[in-house]
Amino acid sequence: MAILYDSGKRIFKLDTCHTTYMIGVTEEGYVAHIYYGRKVAHTGGTYLLRLHEYPQPLRLPREKGTFLNALPFEYPTAGVGDYREAALDLANEQNQHGTELFYDSYSIEKGKPQLTGLPSAFPGKDDGVRREDGMLTDMVETLSLFLVDPVLGVKVTLLYSVFPKEDVITRSALIRNDGSQKLVLTRALSASIDMDDRGFEAVTLAGNWARERRIQQRPLNFGKTQIGSTRGETSHQAAPFMALVTPGTTQNSGEVYAMQLIYSGNHTEVAEKSQFSSVRLITGIHPENFAWRLGPGECFQTPEAALTYSAEGLGRMTRSYHDFIRGHIIRSPWKDKPRPVLINNWEATYFDFDQDKIYEIAKDAHAAGVEMMVMDDGWFGARNDDNCALGDWFVNETKLKGGLAPLVERIRGLGMKFGIWFEPEMISPDSDLCRAHPDWMLHIKDRNPTLARNQCVLDLSRKEVREEIYSRVYRILKSAPIDYVKWDMNRTLSDVGGMSLPPEGQGELMHRYVLGLYEMQERLITDFPDLLLENCSGGGGRFDAGMMYYSPQIWCSDDTDAIERLRIQEGTSLIYPMSTMGAHVSKCPNEQVGRVTPFDTRANVALAGTFGYELNIAALPAEDREKIPEQIARYHRYHGLVADGDYYRIHSWDEKEPWDCWMNVSKDKSEALVTYVQVLGRPSTNSRLAFLRGLDPDAAYTITEECGAAHVENGYGSFVPQTEGCGDELMHMGMLMPPLGDFQSRLYHLVRQ
Ligand code: DGJ
Repeated sequence: MAILYDSGKRIFKLDTCHTTYMIGVTEEGYVAHIYYGRKVAHTGGTYLLRLHEYPQPLRLPREKGTFLNALPFEYPTAGVGDYREAALDLANEQNQHGTELFYDSYSIEKGKPQLTGLPSAFPGKDDGVRREDGMLTDMVETLSLFLVDPVLGVKVTLLYSVFPKEDVITRSALIRNDGSQKLVLTRALSASIDMDDRGFEAVTLAGNWARERRIQQRPLNFGKTQIGSTRGETSHQAAPFMALVTPGTTQNSGEVYAMQLIYSGNHTEVAEKSQFSSVRLITGIHPENFAWRLGPGECFQTPEAALTYSAEGLGRMTRSYHDFIRGHIIRSPWKDKPRPVLINNWEATYFDFDQDKIYEIAKDAHAAGVEMMVMDDGWFGARNDDNCALGDWFVNETKLKGGLAPLVERIRGLGMKFGIWFEPEMISPDSDLCRAHPDWMLHIKDRNPTLARNQCVLDLSRKEVREEIYSRVYRILKSAPIDYVKWDMNRTLSDVGGMSLPPEGQGELMHRYVLGLYEMQERLITDFPDLLLENCSGGGGRFDAGMMYYSPQIWCSDDTDAIERLRIQEGTSLIYPMSTMGAHVSKCPNEQVGRVTPFDTRANVALAGTFGYELNIAALPAEDREKIPEQIARYHRYHGLVADGDYYRIHSWDEKEPWDCWMNVSKDKSEALVTYVQVLGRPSTNSRLAFLRGLDPDAAYTITEECGAAHVENGYGSFVPQTEGCGDELMHMGMLMPPLGDFQSRLYHLVRQ
């Protein structure tokens, strides 16, 4: 059983394979957090609630304020005495803020309910853990805690679903107005935990355009450590994730408490260290500009947060999240299939293409073994640059004579699949769509909306807008056999005014926008169930588990430089599976940073994600072109290992020495792929020692070097690559990596003998 209730002690105990989460109910009925961490066998007690240190209101009503200041709440509310970051804030008809929740009842069910209109984790088909006797145990279970505010007549259901195998617990809250007042919800976060401070440091993923998800770590001081987005999308700047780690945590050791939000809009992550040295970690929809009308009988469902605890460093957290997202978030039928190796014309042509040019790129690519042609931005309306035509989803017949079908037919005639780019959420002021519906964009009365990339954002909260745009996309997809869609979004939301909402409903717009987006993508994958959908937002601006519910892969970054990508992909893979990271080989000098890197290294780095090319093969030097069939064969050889295996980060190039190394190990430990990149060559140093991970310590492995170009001599002798090694040696003594020149790389394939 994953969830137990001890009615004597009024303790709920949620167990995963390696962790325990405990919730208590005080005599007054406050629902409080007791413990999260390493698995414990017993429902010990409520001593962590410190009920004697801060007098309970039942015994000392005059000091209720002191008590609320300190109690570790499960779902903290605002306005009645807890001054820390709140999860829930409601205003009554007098616009007075104050909510107090008391325990009412509970239910425990097998499986997990899906959230309506929102992405949410689902129990997998191979759910549970199979014991030696063949019995399945540890299936997904859900605890619902029913809480009430008797004054407001509000009922809050806290949902906890336990995924034992992955050591993940999902949380969300359903808020229902059973009273008679018109309430306003000004804060509805998804999950919160309170614990004693242990010298925690916060790990987050920060970035900007072309530099997404760089790993940050900072100590917690008294007060709030906060990240988040108010841009209407997840953002390049902050992933919806925060982990608290104990001092000295590494990839392999230390304790980690992590939360990630399964949501694609505004979000907040806060770690607050209180006056009593307790720490609250909380995540959910960002409360800025959020105000949701909650009339009698109405409900609000928060997005889901996924929590995990690791007693074995960040690496274990990573692998738990990878398994969880692969097994319980991604629904696409492409999830377990090798993705077609694609070529995208964006960096090869930008807007300057026609049917013949696309066909020529495809033909050369096909000859080299590429499996799908993706036509990017510029095929519709009067779109010859990025100044116009968004919304005019009609084929530009000057570029593509006779429409889409003849081009797709030619591409398919080569034996390739075909994919196409859209940016359905946007409108160019210079577009027929805008001329017909100038009020469809988000805008504030009497104010010209701020342009970004010369475009504005459509108000997706409006049904008629979604209907029209979706039907245009639908018609294009029906006009020819299309296998893949890249759904782009190239600016964030500003001027968030909605013409279909009354003044008191404007605070709903940001969330309604995201619900509208989810509805459109749900429709798309329902109408086209075999479609391979790749989300994108100016690169990786909307890279989150919410979008993964709709698309199994997301374009990771507009920065395609292999060296820059090392950091971006390291940060992304901290919480998201490799199979979700759109990664391509592009031309050199690189379009973003001007760097020239070896073609092999560009391919080795792109192998860590979904593999493809972002160039014109005909324009490549002959020696690079000749390598493509081999690179594609390598992708097919290792795709399963990379996509489904366990990921281990071995060395990061900006820590200490300038080389980078990671591994993918099959679940049964029978094979592994080690990727090694020398970022800067260094003379007169020992060869690098990579301490491998995840291998079978008792097994001998054969080691084969891939892409074995000439090694750089270190001036004293030659480097002799290892051809075999025992698992324990390779992990504890290390594996020698060759001294290489700048940007050189190697792949090593390990196979258990
Ligand atoms: C941003 C994307 O990330 C690029 O790959 C490309 O599709 C452009 N948008 C097109 O406008």
